[in-house]
Amino acid sequence: MTESFLNPPYIQDYQHFEQHIAKIFSKAGWKVETAKNNQPGYDLSAGMYNLIVKNDQYMIAIQVKWLKGKVSTPQILKFSDFLDSEAGKQFDYGFFITTKGFSNPVLSLIKSWDKRTKIYCGIASESKIDWIKPFVNTSISRKITPAKNKTYFGIFTCKGGVGKTTVSAHLAGAFLLQELNVALIDLDPEQNLSKLVGDGVYVPNPQGGIGHSIEVFKPEEWDENAAPDAQLVICDCSPAFERNPKELIAKFDYCLIPTTLNPLGINKHGKVIEDTVQSIRKYNQKSHLFVVVNNYKKTSKKKLSVLRKTYLNAYYDIEQQDDRFHCIDPEQAAIRSSDQLYYWGIHLLENPDESRSELAFTLVGGRCHPREDFINLADYIETAIGGDIFRSD
Ligand SMILES: Nc1ncnc2c1ncn2[C@@H]1O[C@H](COP(=O)(O)OP(=O)(O)O)[C@@H](O)[C@H]1O
Ligand SMILES: [Mg+2]
Repeated sequence: MTESFLNPPYIQDYQHFEQHIAKIFSKAGWKVETAKNNQPGYDLSAGMYNLIVKNDQYMIAIQVKWLKGKVSTPQILKFSDFLDSEAGKQFDYGFFITTKGFSNPVLSLIKSWDKRTKIYCGIASESKIDWIKPFVNTSISRKITPAKNKTYFGIFTCKGGVGKTTVSAHLAGAFLLQELNVALIDLDPEQNLSKLVGDGVYVPNPQGGIGHSIEVFKPEEWDENAAPDAQLVICDCSPAFERNPKELIAKFDYCLIPTTLNPLGINKHGKVIEDTVQSIRKYNQKSHLFVVVNNYKKTSKKKLSVLRKTYLNAYYDIEQQDDRFHCIDPEQAAIRSSDQLYYWGIHLLENPDESRSELAFTLVGGRCHPREDFINLADYIETAIGGDIFRSD
């Protein structure tokens, strides 16, 4: 009785759900086809759509997702990739329709899309689809209630040039897009972060209008009262371990260790990461440590599979010894190599007097790889560490 109340007949199982969606569209005047395994363009895209709906104007692929929980970022991003692929290009739009809703990171992604984006996301109810409104004109609101406890992130590795500063700023931006209040601390004596972003990292409102700045503190300026509302504090560390203030290292709840996946890099960085872990553990035993691949480049399946295996193997021993050490599988979350990230900072050369900086979060043709990747990474970390711990309310 309770079971059927919680799960109305149309979402009892996958098949009922798909039929239910087909019925809704057909009632609304669309011609509905069920995708067949041998359909042209369907075979390789492996389950990317289940229904095709057409009218005089449009042909739309529908991915029907029957889920017990909310849709997560990788599921949406896979569908985006499919719509951009050769097989996906034949469709004017893609509808992603599910049972239970979308995770917070997915919602922040949807809000950031513009009119060129081909996906519409919806939740099916008894008689209609409730669409999540894309390109809504809301400003990013920041929580005004002071955080009970601040959560500290360190972005650290004993090596320069692998993306610590880039990851720090953009991860902060991804959390801000989820309406979390974030502060940055620039621990590197080179102060690249401060040089790059001046007084703060500006995160434009995806829909225009006023955005928000994330304040950047120097270590000597930082104490908890400097940013009383900040729920998250992200530290861009110096690669020279001893130059980072020990009292901040001791505070890290989470640490991200960026690395690269090129063949020569994997082994070289294996040693670097061992040293990095040992250094952190001298002052901090509680922090969860995540190795994350930056500058990720898609290549052939065969090459990727070798690289991925070698990479996961390289840290196997550390993972065995340290149960708070995690190696993020690049298939689940990684930061792709992108021109937008590479040239992030061009404003320093263009307008040396302008201290305001924007993140590489601008949409190009309806997509923005850096923004997708960092929201996905934020989603991955939040899930890995048990959800809503950042939110004090
Ligand atoms: N995913 C990426 N794609 C392209 N360029 C990147 C990426 N990540 C970092 N870069 C570039 O690499 C250089 C070094 O990155 P940076 O964040 O300064 O590293 P670190 O802080 O570890 O020294 C910068 O010029 C940055 O723009
Ligand atoms: Mg740096």
